[in-house]
Amino acid sequence: MSGGAANAGAALLEVRDLKVHLRVGGAIVRAVDGVDLTVMPGESIGIVGESGSGKSTLARGILKLMANVELAELQGDVRFQGKDLTRIADAELRALRRHGGFSMIFQDPLGYLNPTKRVGTQVAEALGGKWFAATRRRVEQLLEEAGLPASAQLARRFPHELSGGQRQRVMIAIALASEPALLFADEPTTALDATVQLQVLKTLGRLHRDRNMAMVVITHDLGVVAELCDRVYVMRSGKVVESGDTVELFENPRHPYAAQLIELSTRHRRPGPSAPGAAPSVPASPAEAR
Ligand SMILES: Nc1ncnc2c1ncn2[C@@H]1O[C@H](COP(=O)(O)OP(=O)(O)O)[C@@H](O)[C@H]1O
Ligand SMILES: [Mg+2]
Repeated sequence: MSGGAANAGAALLEVRDLKVHLRVGGAIVRAVDGVDLTVMPGESIGIVGESGSGKSTLARGILKLMANVELAELQGDVRFQGKDLTRIADAELRALRRHGGFSMIFQDPLGYLNPTKRVGTQVAEALGGKWFAATRRRVEQLLEEAGLPASAQLARRFPHELSGGQRQRVMIAIALASEPALLFADEPTTALDATVQLQVLKTLGRLHRDRNMAMVVITHDLGVVAELCDRVYVMRSGKVVESGDTVELFENPRHPYAAQLIELSTRHRRPGPSAPGAAPSVPASPAEAR
């Protein structure tokens, strides 16, 4: 973790008064309604809030990934590496996705991976290489970095031949291929078993540290935040109701909604599959997870 980084230097990502209003049926949903957010280089921040609070829409609004929705309004300032993402040309945005900018991983790798292509081929394509042989070594390195065995055998498998945790790691390898300065992870472990969840979180923590890669981790699970994040933003109904240092916020939440989230998450600890309490997704305090 890179605690204390928030006070020095230029921000990697700076979001000011972002509004993402959607047209749903005849109504307008203010999914994101005036959010400010700052991510420093190498910092890991969490965005927490219950389902429907606007977390995913916030990420998609920032990254201009607003497919399949009818926008009623999209406004605000989004600066990434000093560039204004709201005004940037499409080609420049694609360049940021291709190298040194940002990547995103999701809850559901099956909805993202191509079912008809070998996973190694998909990582190779993310590297911009068509031929698996030519990029093979780099593909294996990325798979290994994402916590998979560096075997040619695994790279030759299809997504459905892997476990959920392995698929999530393939998606991580693909995200790493562009050497992102910032990784967005939207509910990265929500669909996984508790023990696998913890392993994938450890991998993300290692990548964050070793690559000095900034992360925005979106989750409804405060245990994930405790494990991974320096700072946290609490969202409710499209707004940030509280933000601050993870440890301080856990120990002394000011907003009643944040207090309630913490209270609920510590009460409903999820036991591991075999030994109860062996792999808690929610530690009692963030300090335990470090
Ligand atoms: N594609 C969509 N179509 C209709 N409504 C949407 C869509 N995406 C998000 N919303 C609405 O926007 C609000 C925020 O949703 P979302 O960003 O997915 O929340 P979260 O990720 O915190 O669960 C919710 O009211 C949700 O119903
Ligand atoms: Mg979501």
